[in-house]
Amino acid sequence: MSGSSREQTQAVLEPLLPFIDAADDAVVVKDSGHRILYHNEPFRLLFGGTSRSIDGKIFRCADSLKLGACTRDCAVTRAQSTNCPVRLYDLKGEIEGRELTLILSALPLPGGRSIEMFRDVSAEQRLHRRYKRLLAQERMAKEALEKAVLDRTEELRQAQAQVVHNEKMAGLGRLAAGIAHEINNPINYIRGNVAFIRDYFSALLEMIDVLRAHLRDDSREIVEEAEGRLEIEYIREDITKLLRAVEAGSERTAAIVNDLRTFSRMGRSTLEDTNLHVGIDTTLALLHPMLSDRIEVIKKYGPPFVVRCNSGHVNQVFMNLLTNAAQAISGTGTITITTWVDNGRAIVEMLDTGCGVGDVAERIFDPFFTTKGVEGTGLGLSISYGIARDHGGKLEVRDAPGEAGGALARFELPGARYLPADSD
Ligand SMILES: Nc1ncnc2c1ncn2[C@@H]1O[C@H](COP(=O)(O)OP(=O)(O)OP(=O)(O)O)[C@@H](O)[C@H]1O
Ligand SMILES: [Mg+2]
Repeated sequence: MSGSSREQTQAVLEPLLPFIDAADDAVVVKDSGHRILYHNEPFRLLFGGTSRSIDGKIFRCADSLKLGACTRDCAVTRAQSTNCPVRLYDLKGEIEGRELTLILSALPLPGGRSIEMFRDVSAEQRLHRRYKRLLAQERMAKEALEKAVLDRTEELRQAQAQVVHNEKMAGLGRLAAGIAHEINNPINYIRGNVAFIRDYFSALLEMIDVLRAHLRDDSREIVEEAEGRLEIEYIREDITKLLRAVEAGSERTAAIVNDLRTFSRMGRSTLEDTNLHVGIDTTLALLHPMLSDRIEVIKKYGPPFVVRCNSGHVNQVFMNLLTNAAQAISGTGTITITTWVDNGRAIVEMLDTGCGVGDVAERIFDPFFTTKGVEGTGLGLSISYGIARDHGGKLEVRDAPGEAGGALARFELPGARYLPADSD
């Protein structure tokens, strides 16, 4: 360096030296050829070396920090060419195998000289990264906790629904069994005696005919008058009709009692080979008053099959699905029941022409969800879903495909076995 340029450098540096020496950041002053004119202690600590070995050396941060990428776009060169300070954040480098994150500030000085300041923010960066990791862990832990609480709440809701429903069904089952038991004896008594009454009446009528045939002339008038007054001819005709009606009524009552008894076997928890067609028919018979005049039931049963299941619970599913279908139809409509076996799985589909599930589709299996106000408990489908799941089966209820509207319920159970053709 010539004498005059040394003096110039001295003049430029002199006022800066106290700041450079007092700085916490590593500071280096370089000439236009990147030769070190001055540096402070933090610079030595950061880049290594002694004052002797450093001063007068060419220094390029790109080399010292192994920053291959920035050799072309050097901050110092930019600062000098624009005559403005340049600051680079998040400069990743490496010194003696240590990875560093630095903030670099380059300031142009007169005569092509420059000052470079390096602030080592590696520790802050590490802390920041650690903080972010901890935050993320905390967030994940919080989410896991929230999910656990939600799952637990849902489990409790399900359990509560199950308890309420079990109570309801047990109560219904006891009531149905009790009624069936109470009605069974008198109705069998009526059924059994109608035939005797018919026989006795025909004997009495025959007797009247015999007496009539052997009437004496003087008593004929009195008898005929009594016959007319008592409408004996009319009674003769009507009594047969009445007895036929009593017989049909008692038969029907006995069938209902029988269905009630089948249905009230729900309490049983044993698995048995069950003919689902019989279960559906029994349920339909119980629902007869609800369906009778307004709803036509179209049965499209496939070949007969049995499924090993808890028949009471499966009947309960049919009861819930058919009740929902009937309740969804205002006025008249149809329920089409189709059954078949697919790959060993029994499929029962119930298609109704009701209002359809619509917007609430997502929620219909939620316990206590109902659109029927006080009329519904909102348990039918959630319990049926549980029954299907417990049997390894499936239950879906959605809007029926196509333009016709209505809903389609599909109930699947595994382990279906065909029965011999004549057994359904
Ligand atoms: N076939 C259907 N057509 C239209 N909507 C239906 C049908 N089946 C179920 N839903 C809807 O799903 C809701 C829940 O049905 P779910 O059987 O669980 O309860 P619910 O019928 O309201 O009351 P309940 O406990 O008496 O059965 C119903 O309120 C209704 O909105
Ligand atoms: Mg229901």
